[in-house]
Amino acid sequence: MRRIEFFLIAVFLLFVCGGYISIPIYLDDTRGIEERVEDALNRMTLQEKIAMVHAQSSFSSPGVKRLGIPEIWTTDGPHGIRAELFWGNFKEAGWGNDSCVAFPALTALAATWNREMAYIYGKSIGEEARYRNKTILLGPGVNIYRTPLNGRNFEYMGEDPFLASELVVPYVRGVQQNGVAACVKHYALNNNEKNRHTTNVIVDDRALNEIYLPAFKAAVTKGKVWSIMGAYNLFQGQHCSHHHRLLNQILKQDWGFDGVVVSDWGATHDSDEAIRNGLDLEFDTKDSKMPKLSAVKYDNYFLAHDYLNKIQQGKYGTEELDDKVRRILRLSFRTNMNRARPYGSMLSKEHYDAAQQIAEEGFVLLKNEGILPISRENVKRILVVGENAVRMMTAGGGSSALKAQIEVTPLQGIMELVDESIDVCFARGYKTEDYEGAKVMAGYSLEETRSDEELAREAVDLAKNADYVLFFGGLNKAKKQDCEGHDRLTMSLPANQDALIDSLLQVNKHLIFVNISGNAVAMPWVGRVPAICQAWYLGSKAGTAIARILFGEVNPSGKLPFSFPVSLDRSPAHVKGDYPGTKKGNVWDMVYREGIFVGYRWFDTFDKNGVLFPFGHGLSYTKFMYEKPSIDRQKMGAEECVKISVLVKNIGMVAGKEVVQLYVGDKKSSLPRPVKELKAFQKVDLAPGESELVTFVLDRNDLSFFNDRIQKWVAEPGEFELFIGSSSVDIRGKVKIVYTGK
Ligand code: GLC
Repeated sequence: MRRIEFFLIAVFLLFVCGGYISIPIYLDDTRGIEERVEDALNRMTLQEKIAMVHAQSSFSSPGVKRLGIPEIWTTDGPHGIRAELFWGNFKEAGWGNDSCVAFPALTALAATWNREMAYIYGKSIGEEARYRNKTILLGPGVNIYRTPLNGRNFEYMGEDPFLASELVVPYVRGVQQNGVAACVKHYALNNNEKNRHTTNVIVDDRALNEIYLPAFKAAVTKGKVWSIMGAYNLFQGQHCSHHHRLLNQILKQDWGFDGVVVSDWGATHDSDEAIRNGLDLEFDTKDSKMPKLSAVKYDNYFLAHDYLNKIQQGKYGTEELDDKVRRILRLSFRTNMNRARPYGSMLSKEHYDAAQQIAEEGFVLLKNEGILPISRENVKRILVVGENAVRMMTAGGGSSALKAQIEVTPLQGIMELVDESIDVCFARGYKTEDYEGAKVMAGYSLEETRSDEELAREAVDLAKNADYVLFFGGLNKAKKQDCEGHDRLTMSLPANQDALIDSLLQVNKHLIFVNISGNAVAMPWVGRVPAICQAWYLGSKAGTAIARILFGEVNPSGKLPFSFPVSLDRSPAHVKGDYPGTKKGNVWDMVYREGIFVGYRWFDTFDKNGVLFPFGHGLSYTKFMYEKPSIDRQKMGAEECVKISVLVKNIGMVAGKEVVQLYVGDKKSSLPRPVKELKAFQKVDLAPGESELVTFVLDRNDLSFFNDRIQKWVAEPGEFELFIGSSSVDIRGKVKIVYTGK
């Protein structure tokens, strides 16, 4: 070979290996993802790697243009695909093609107690995200319902780790089958919004492992979720978005998470921790914290020029950086570089049907003294009262706000369902202050000049001549109600709803209260109102679903995913816990003193009368009879399973769905345990007279608790009780087993 040829080849190879000449990395699609990740990583320059690990805009991070690696686009939120925003801020950009289907809030999904609904939810929202060319869907949220005041409870799946774990897995799988990454949030212990950036959670390892981590662990180990969002708050004095124990040890080492840890927006606070403690992709760092190294604000992030300088000065090698980039490349090859991924769809009939089905299955009938369903035969006039009958609820509430193509309000749903033989009139009844994002409803303005007294008088006068009064009250998405960034100040209903209900009851006993909220509310009139419903935030088809249930087209089958305490001072986080904590310097130390006794675990064990409506509660228009449960063995060894079966029969006149729940109680344990804990559930659909044999199989894991003294899950030998229930307190049968432990 001539010298010149050798020289030219050498130069060519130098450029290729140095990554300065890109050979299309799609040359061979049959390579596995890991091989392609390494290939791409080896072609990237240091600068390209640094660029990849932090944002380039409000919701995107760069790929590598030179190598054909696309940008990563994230989108809120857990209930639908957020409208397009401007590049560098959070204002809607006013596009004309970014309306979406608003799916019910996740508390409503949790209230379905139906794994199939969770899958349909994830599949549908994933199709909308895919069609909008999004790489990461910033949801679902699975933070445990600890205090009724938390402004974001509506975005989460309730108070029980098993229920949340069972529903987050199908949701994640449904999203990711579209080639879109789900991003389970907010990891971890983000259980209130007040002081969310400065709350330092102090909680024992039992509660951490038994209550607050399980849903995240299930999302990772069973759902194989491709990204996780670090929370704003601190845990044991370190910020969760770069937390060594939570991210490096538990998430990546113990659980084997191979995806991307995304910071919450503005949740990164320390350069060395961001580099070393498992943060992979930094978003929305407030530039006040950083040295001004560049006019481009994204270059001033912790994982940007500052990090590059530290590497070039020899303070760090590239091991941490390469791990971050590998994870991001892996996510890309699973999503926007995955040539096999489907194309997605938006605003389809299937998605609206899914939204409606989930809404109908999540609606919870809390109380019914024979007044529901409304029989249209002998009804001439219905009065619909309440701002929540006409207010748009998909707007507002923070980052989960949506530009819904359609939102059927309760009043519209009723008007669409009943014919002209029924006179439906409306009285606003009360008014709350308007808020960002709230919009007027088609045909009804929320502008109001009348006084509270005039509004109430109008409602009471109209109620005198109505056959039924349908009161749509509850909360809305205003700050200090159900809204991100703020907690409620009280459990009471806003405006003068309680007084109005009392006034209406004096002139009409046929009052049905429909609570539109994502949180428990105080109900001082609970004994005097004949029917009470929990209708959540049900999204685009809210009014359709609500009307169909109230008029009996659909039989309600939802069950509460969290307890309604009688009052705030009976809630464990406020009786025993330490909400909102104590200010120490610039953080708020909050001690979760109630430990594992969250929700029904508390009420069952310490305050049976403290609960207004219990976890797992929900009525039907039919009745279900449970036969005595049977068990296939009296004793269970360490390697054995026990099978418990119960025959459930629909003994009513209409078809209905029932959630059969199994709770386990450890009669004697070396550490305190709740009276019982949810360990299995199944939703059955039964025609009148139809029966179904429901069987659950338990193993020792279902008997275990986390012994923080030895940092292990243990099942201790002894007697256990298995409770079969229609709720956590409506126990229809129980059996005992002895676990031998051998
Ligand atoms: C918000 C929320 C998070 C959301 C993100 C982007 O502050 O905490 O849930 O996905 O920022 O909007």
